[in-house]
Amino acid sequence: MAETETPTMTEKKYDPQNPEPLAENMVRVVFLPENRVVEYEKDKLPYEHHGRPQSILDVAENFNVFLDHACGGNCACTTCHVVVKQGAELLNEMDDDEADRIETAADLQLASRLGCQAVIEKPGTVVVEIPSWNRNYVSEGHAPKKE
Ligand code: FES
Repeated sequence: MAETETPTMTEKKYDPQNPEPLAENMVRVVFLPENRVVEYEKDKLPYEHHGRPQSILDVAENFNVFLDHACGGNCACTTCHVVVKQGAELLNEMDDDEADRIETAADLQLASRLGCQAVIEKPGTVVVEIPSWNRNYVSEGHAPKKE
């Protein structure tokens, strides 16, 4: 994929019992509970200027998956909270700023990360769940339109 090419969403559904093989240097991110699957070549994702480059939020923005980010991806809120169900070893280590911020998140879990700070550093499959309160926000029609 060329660096300026916009990545596209796959129509595949992710089956954790029987996952499709992933090509070399590819990243697959599965957004639950909708089971939206996106794939891109590592380090070829255009930066969408929300959160850290190659973060879960950056991936979501690239593929028009709604993940709230009230502070613009600056580790100053918790609206980008996700729960990492698979692939945590592919992500960067949580730094002190993220750890301090996420402590204030609703429904905090051991596998919680801030989507804007969790950078996918290695190829492979990352499965994240967007908490229900965030999804409810979407269903009420407040999701921003992608420009
Ligand atoms: S968008 Fe505010 S902390 Fe991630």
